[in-house]
Amino acid sequence: MGKYNLTRMTDLSLEDVEEIYRISAETKDDVKNEREHHLLRGKLLAMYFEKPSLRTRCTFEAGMFDLGGHAIQLEGNTVGIGRRESVYDVAKNLERWFDLIMIRTYQQRIVEELAQHANIPVINALTDDYHPCQALADLFTVREHMGALKGLTLTFMGDGNNICASLAQLCPMLGVNFRHCGPSQFQLKPHIFTAAQKLAQASGATVEYTDDPAAAVKGANMIYTDVWASMGQEAEAEQRKTIFMPYQVNTALMAQAEADALIMHDLPAHRGEEITDDVIDSPRSIVFDQAENRLHVQKGIMVHLFFKNKKA
Ligand code: CP
Ligand code: NVA
Repeated sequence: MGKYNLTRMTDLSLEDVEEIYRISAETKDDVKNEREHHLLRGKLLAMYFEKPSLRTRCTFEAGMFDLGGHAIQLEGNTVGIGRRESVYDVAKNLERWFDLIMIRTYQQRIVEELAQHANIPVINALTDDYHPCQALADLFTVREHMGALKGLTLTFMGDGNNICASLAQLCPMLGVNFRHCGPSQFQLKPHIFTAAQKLAQASGATVEYTDDPAAAVKGANMIYTDVWASMGQEAEAEQRKTIFMPYQVNTALMAQAEADALIMHDLPAHRGEEITDDVIDSPRSIVFDQAENRLHVQKGIMVHLFFKNKKA
């Protein structure tokens, strides 16, 4: 039996993304018009967290509630996937009780092993390597603001981390040019960069890296940043502050960008580090629209994966 998951962006085809966006837009409209949309009535989502969360935790549970289902949170330190119990055994238990699994953990390998063994869809809700749910909500948000995506340019300022990697995959899939700008020792992993360039060839987009902030923001339609030290890298935070400061998204940098460029951040933000208050709070900032759309887009992801697996 074929089984569909979202362990990384490349698990999805362009058709999958379009279908997810169709469902997301429809259910968002249902929310606005106070219409019930119980597309997953009586279904159960397991939410497994090894790292902290505000947005992901709230939006998956609220999303499942809106869809007529229910979500149960599992704590990493009590379940101990791969530690207290093997990933295989956890998968074989969860599939007996649940219809979908959402997992936030450190190693990408754990998510992929879980997806391999569980016969229900597994959704990556952030690993050290990827954050596909975030990138999907981000480009959905851009499309709402800009009307269309093809031909736009998104510049990501900072660490070539999980957020940068998922954007580097989704942008070219959707015809959005992607630029990463940051210190040379914090570039995307070479295999991710090369794969992103391949995706870009198919859509006619471009994928580039530069360490020059002024060149990176010139002509960009969206300027995106994320924390300099991600969850699990707290010990490096002080050292990273010095290295990343030239890449801060601040008024001086925005003066070099187009006047109507949108400001994006996945949140949580470390205000005064990767982004200054005046920029994140400016009228060009769409950071809370991104956060809101996590709710709508994850509904699209859950509904699409659930029914696609049923048909498989
Ligand atoms: N952006 C995001 O995933 O937020 P949380 O870490 O709060 O879930
Ligand atoms: N890069 C950040 C994203 C948080 C949503 C982290 O991994 O902590």
